[in-house]
Amino acid sequence: MTGKTVFISGGTSGINLGIAKGFAAQGDKVLVFGRDAVKAEAAAQEIRDETGGVAMAGSADVRDMEAIRTLFAQASETLGAPTVVIAGAAGNFMSPAVGISANGFKTVIDIDLLGTYNVFRAAYDFIVKPGASLIAITAPQAVQPLPQQVHVCAAKAGVNMVVKVLAMEWGQAGIRVNAISPGPILGTEGVERMAPTEEDKLKWSAHTALRRFGTASDIAQAAIFLSSAQGTYITGTILDCDGGMKLGDASGDYLTLPKR
Ligand code: NAP
Ligand code: COA
Repeated sequence: MTGKTVFISGGTSGINLGIAKGFAAQGDKVLVFGRDAVKAEAAAQEIRDETGGVAMAGSADVRDMEAIRTLFAQASETLGAPTVVIAGAAGNFMSPAVGISANGFKTVIDIDLLGTYNVFRAAYDFIVKPGASLIAITAPQAVQPLPQQVHVCAAKAGVNMVVKVLAMEWGQAGIRVNAISPGPILGTEGVERMAPTEEDKLKWSAHTALRRFGTASDIAQAAIFLSSAQGTYITGTILDCDGGMKLGDASGDYLTLPKR
């Protein structure tokens, strides 16, 4: 039992829900929220059922600072001041730039970049100081240009900078700010779209050093580590949790280890 309170934007599905389950399973209280209140309640129930832990559901659009503040005030009342805040909400679609309107580009910038800033800025007024840990969920697109992802690449590059600047400004208050950059994670909508069959998954993962896709639990363990007593001197870091994907293509005969 670590007894922390953890607020997670976008904690109602996918990777962030996995992170919420990881914290709840070790005895922390979690708030999960997205735009859809019904989906959030179902996620909180799933967390309670699977972990036996304490999970609260909420609804707020991360583009709306006042909505986040109101929710954080209510959740702090119910669960106690947060020690960990995870900005995980994001939006994505695949499209070449010529298929993206100004509003399409702005929508992803607003959810991913402004949304991360809003969650962290609102959290500043509620978190335990000193001692809080803020974690953004970024993506490889922050540093790796990818066709059909101009909006996400721009947004996530901005997220990495928000993390680094806030780490510099808020370190003196005992607040650590880091990011996790997941590789492709099994069971998420994005990965199921990219590699729908088992064969596709094997083909894609064969290029990664660890030869497998990640799981939400892999990312949960990284978040738990960053916010734990083992991570107290880490701030401003973008932690790759991607099986070595960012190192480059690790397939090819010349990379096969000798048998002995
Ligand atoms: P997901 O299942 O689609 O979850 C997205 C979450 O964000 C949902 O809870 C959604 O709830 C919420 N959300 C979306 N727009 C929102 C808004 N405007 N305000 C508040 N909440 C909002 O996502 P995922 O694939 O697991 O990805 C989670 C994070 O990991 C993202 O930051 C993503 O960029 C990053 N990531 C994912 C992968 C991957 O393999 N999937 C790889 C690298 C990085 P509502 O719909 O109810 O709002
Ligand atoms: N290709 C091109 N443009 C697209 C698009 C696509 N596939 N999907 C949406 N857009 C554009 C819309 O056309 C609109 O622009 P317009 O007004 O000029 O027509 C703009 O994006 C906003 O669309 P809207 O549906 O109103 O946005 P929303 O705020 O309701 O939803 C999204 C945001 C588009 C990111 C939506 O995909 C979403 O809610 N995603 C959350 C889940 C997710 O993406 N998970 C993966 C996490 S990494």
